[in-house]
Amino acid sequence: MKRLLVLGGGRQAAEGLKDLQQKGFHLVVCDMDENAPGFAFAEDKIIASVYHLEVCLPAVLAYHAEKPISGVMCLACDVPHIVAAIAEKLDLPGNSLETAHRAVDKLAMKDKFVADGVPVPEYRQVESTSELRSLRSEWQGLVVKPVDSRGSKGVSVLDQNGDADWAFENARQNSPSGRVMAERYLEGPQVSTESVVIKGKAITPALSDRSYEFLDKYHPFIVENGGTMPSALPEAITEKIETLVSHAAISLGVENGIVKGDIVVHENEPYVIELAARLSGGYFCTHQIPFSTGIHLVEAAARTALGEDLDPSEWNNEPKCPVSTRWCMVDEGTLLSFEEPEKIRAMKNVLAFETWVSPGSYIDRPQNAAASIAMVQATGASYSEAVKNAENALLEFNPIIQKQ
Ligand SMILES: Nc1ncnc2c1ncn2[C@@H]1O[C@H](COP(=O)(O)OP(=O)(O)O)[C@@H](O)[C@H]1O
Ligand SMILES: [Mg+2]
Repeated sequence: MKRLLVLGGGRQAAEGLKDLQQKGFHLVVCDMDENAPGFAFAEDKIIASVYHLEVCLPAVLAYHAEKPISGVMCLACDVPHIVAAIAEKLDLPGNSLETAHRAVDKLAMKDKFVADGVPVPEYRQVESTSELRSLRSEWQGLVVKPVDSRGSKGVSVLDQNGDADWAFENARQNSPSGRVMAERYLEGPQVSTESVVIKGKAITPALSDRSYEFLDKYHPFIVENGGTMPSALPEAITEKIETLVSHAAISLGVENGIVKGDIVVHENEPYVIELAARLSGGYFCTHQIPFSTGIHLVEAAARTALGEDLDPSEWNNEPKCPVSTRWCMVDEGTLLSFEEPEKIRAMKNVLAFETWVSPGSYIDRPQNAAASIAMVQATGASYSEAVKNAENALLEFNPIIQKQ
């Protein structure tokens, strides 16, 4: 029996774990929360923080000594470096430690991309606010971010009127290593991609147009409020994006595995904002991509982690239908009430709906990807219908907030 260790059993991982269990994988799930919903689909559980190798590795080794593990992956959590460290220690298939390091260190990643000719926004490590100010005069609009964080935490836009001291501190405090970087802000449509890499060749069944409707409202924070696939960008551009992702995956060093891209298309040319060496979160690989294409990249990740050779033709479906995700954002205040989730799920064209808050909770002003209080995915006869159906579902959800 081949046991597959999955790091992450949170609510965004649960559906993917359920699917793997149904497909016959023998799952060992690791999560620090003993009530993690993903444990329901595991044969065994390991209770340990997946973000801390010093906690996770001893627990995994103790388990492995009793019941050998044959593969390791993560789901809906950003720990490719922990996955690689475990794979190395247990001699399992996976990315090298060097690749995994590049994947979680935005400077190391971009240095490698530049060396290999993969286009990225201009970037620089910044040690002080005065450096940030001089970059601002040089580049005009900047994005300031931690070198090693995730989910837009600590990321902000810095324009001519912005507060450079605050932007620097906000990024520094969100960086585990205390390092800050700045990038030239590139205007243009943004796309999420998710690909399976088979023997060094990336296949990208998923390109989703990211929605940033509220950039002004939540300025200087960058809060994404959804995405729609398949991308409505012209084929000439989506083909360029696919080629770019392929080059970036090779540059990062992913030979077999998953890569998740953040791409910006600036003046008709795509640039890599980052390329993660892992599955996505945000109900993308577990819900939106399978709904739209029938492709289960979670399964691709699982089989790759167990060392199987994948057949490229299995992962290259044309999208079947448009699917739009919308995240529900509300102003800060106390959440008084909302419509029953079951009612939203029963709406025509709604494919999935999740909420994780309860009446009485205090909701902060959105600052990053973790700010939303609910998520809906809807389909429709066309791209714009899918968007409209998702938006209507959130109107129906109707959260009532009492401002302080
Ligand atoms: N150079 C840039 N130009 C335009 N937008 C950017 C740039 N860098 C980051 N962003 C925006 O900020 C978001 C978060 O930045 P990212 O580097 O992906 O960090 P994280 O690891 O937190 O996701 C991106 O998804 C993108 O929307
Ligand atoms: Mg990102």
